[in-house]
Amino acid sequence: MESRNFILKGDIAYSKTQTRLLTSENSYLVCEKGKSAGVFPSLPPAFAGLPLADYTGKLILPGLTDIHMHAPQFTFRSLGMDLELLEWLNRHAFPEEAKYGDAEYAHLAYGRLVEHLKQGPNTRICFFATLHVPATMILMELLEKSGLVSLVGKVNMDRNSPDILREADAEASAGATREWLGAIEKNGPYKNTYPILTPRFIPSCSDDLMRALSAIQKQYALPLQSHLSENQREIEWVRELCPASSSYGNAYAQFDLFGAQTPTIMAHCVWSDKKELELMRSRSVYAAHCPQSNINLSSGIAPARRFLELGIPTGLGSDVAGGVHTSIFRAMTDAIGVSKLRQCLIAKDEAPLTLEEAFWMGTLGGGSFFGSAGLPGNTAATGSFDPGYEFDALVIDDANLTAPFRASVEERLRRVVYLSDDRNIVAKYVRGNPIK
Ligand code: GUN
Ligand code: FE
Repeated sequence: MESRNFILKGDIAYSKTQTRLLTSENSYLVCEKGKSAGVFPSLPPAFAGLPLADYTGKLILPGLTDIHMHAPQFTFRSLGMDLELLEWLNRHAFPEEAKYGDAEYAHLAYGRLVEHLKQGPNTRICFFATLHVPATMILMELLEKSGLVSLVGKVNMDRNSPDILREADAEASAGATREWLGAIEKNGPYKNTYPILTPRFIPSCSDDLMRALSAIQKQYALPLQSHLSENQREIEWVRELCPASSSYGNAYAQFDLFGAQTPTIMAHCVWSDKKELELMRSRSVYAAHCPQSNINLSSGIAPARRFLELGIPTGLGSDVAGGVHTSIFRAMTDAIGVSKLRQCLIAKDEAPLTLEEAFWMGTLGGGSFFGSAGLPGNTAATGSFDPGYEFDALVIDDANLTAPFRASVEERLRRVVYLSDDRNIVAKYVRGNPIK
């Protein structure tokens, strides 16, 4: 990793804890070798010689982390929003993903996606690609050039999908996965782009495939991402497919693919019951809360308050194209909004999320996965400016959002979360490197 040493000066805000923001007006944020060395109201002499970028009057925030996104679905955002999950997969997601068998199409589509993401507030993203090895490599190459940090999964699917988007059998799917991991070893290792095992969800992966992926996970010590308890018909289907499993989560756990030794992100968990949530907690499985997708695919409202109360590690996901917006600022506001509806309509005893909690989820909550996923090198968590965190930062010009009076840094942050767009971002750093 390129070593970066510099100082940013401005109005700084980040999550000190899940429930508390730390703000520091007109202060100094020091980056040393790509990691934060801390926030200081006046500059300690030890750092006096470092180059300083003066962003006086602007906000400096941690970069945002999207822990669940489907890269090939960027192209059809906003289509099929009148459908529920299983119809939407068949009518929109699968036919579109099949197009990525064409490397030229993949290059064009993924090129646009990566350019879009460079302009936005997210600095780290966990992607599902497609089952195609060449297209997945194209995505990884483009991401590596972008400077963003990402986890990318070649998707595994060997059953219950159309012929145009299904691997022949477990052996073919596992073979393609090994081929993909071999290509990464040959082309890389990449500095900012890492593989993550990605069985699509239980309905699209046979037991033989899950066994083969378990062996690959053990050999390569890879993290894993998938979907869990998103939609009621999906859950019923999993019950039929796995009659011996005590829950949807158990259908992964029986193959050692649910946390514990396998750092894991499960998207949605809308309908996870007490037992499944307890299984997640006990194995430190991350919940990727994707509120906009919950709305668009009529999935339900994930119990985010319960995730937090139980101590389930939780981050936010766009779930593009279930969600249409890539910005995790939008996911924060949607998370707060749906939590209020959940309290009104479903669970009176579950308090709505606060801005502090939603901001934590979209920064440190998801950013901590990068420190616990067993990634190579010295990879640490991100999402905080406490010393030792990897230095992902946004500089935001919020002049057009602030009323014509002097507002606190905290109030300005609230406005930025709800009102800012890509045009407000004046600089973006990932691991201390500027993104241009
Ligand atoms: N479950 C299996 N595949 C998908 C997908 O592409 N999107 C969502 N939201 N859920 C899924
Ligand atoms: Fe998804």
